Amino acid sequence: MKITVIGGGNVGATTAQLLANAELANEVFIVDIVEGIPQGKALDMYESMPVNESDTKIFGVNDYAATKDSDIVVITAGLARKPGMSRDDLLKINASIVTSCAKSAFEYSPNAYYIIVSNPLDVMTYLALKETGLPKEKVFGMAGILDTARYRSFISMEIGCSMQDIQGLILGGHGDTMVPLPRFTTVAGIPIIDLIPKERMDAICKRAAGGGGEIVKHLKTGSAYYAPASAVVQMIESIVKDQKRILPCSVLLDGEYGYNDIVVGVPAMLGKNGIEKVMVLDLNDEEKAMLKTSCDHVTETIKEAIEIIKG
Ligand code: LAC
Repeated sequence: MKITVIGGGNVGATTAQLLANAELANEVFIVDIVEGIPQGKALDMYESMPVNESDTKIFGVNDYAATKDSDIVVITAGLARKPGMSRDDLLKINASIVTSCAKSAFEYSPNAYYIIVSNPLDVMTYLALKETGLPKEKVFGMAGILDTARYRSFISMEIGCSMQDIQGLILGGHGDTMVPLPRFTTVAGIPIIDLIPKERMDAICKRAAGGGGEIVKHLKTGSAYYAPASAVVQMIESIVKDQKRILPCSVLLDGEYGYNDIVVGVPAMLGKNGIEKVMVLDLNDEEKAMLKTSCDHVTETIKEAIEIIKG
């Protein structure tokens, strides 16, 4: 297993380190345009492997030739948000960065699975799909696990119970319009709506939707990376070990939920063949309306991105 992580910033480097610590690959390559950064970070990680009892080899490079025949490529390149910015504010700059990274990586690794992490996430995934021409099973985005992890953390803080017992789902775009689903959230099988009053659940859903912005506000110079990197690694583990976990991922829809030619977060089965199945929930009218608002927003942003790429 050879995994390439494009972007040696906080998300990329943390992802590489977690992958190596978990020995999910024989080789991990970090690619970044800045001379020295990927080399230095990768060597530092490589030198931590004896202590971490892992035999993963980690390399940092500035060009793509060394990434040839990667099995999985993770694209984290691009700018992160600063306080006051929405993910969509990154559109202009990240659209060209992600498109060019996808193009270069695909040249050397046409058979890889591509996991997109750069923001605005759903739109960047759409651009990577178009750039590579790969099917939706092979190019998808990480957002839902992160959003759901935040949601689950806040529920755990509220109840005081183990994080592990909380199952929850968030659909839609990775942005302010994401759709947390209390009706599909349980604690050890107990419906959340029986445990937390509606107004508290509303506050938790709101905090989850603004969870990325909350971290940006604290950090001031960038956005979250520990939880995003953990989420990427969970997706990769499910693929590498063919676990067939059902995880919320950003996937190109092909009629599911009544949408086409749009990438948004939906629960999907992830295994050795990538996105093996999209799970379709029986949403009520309110949930459908929220999903529509979210999808309309993503569709608009995709249109803008296509204009930017055309140029
Ligand atoms: C977040 C950014 C990475 O949600 O989108 O933290």
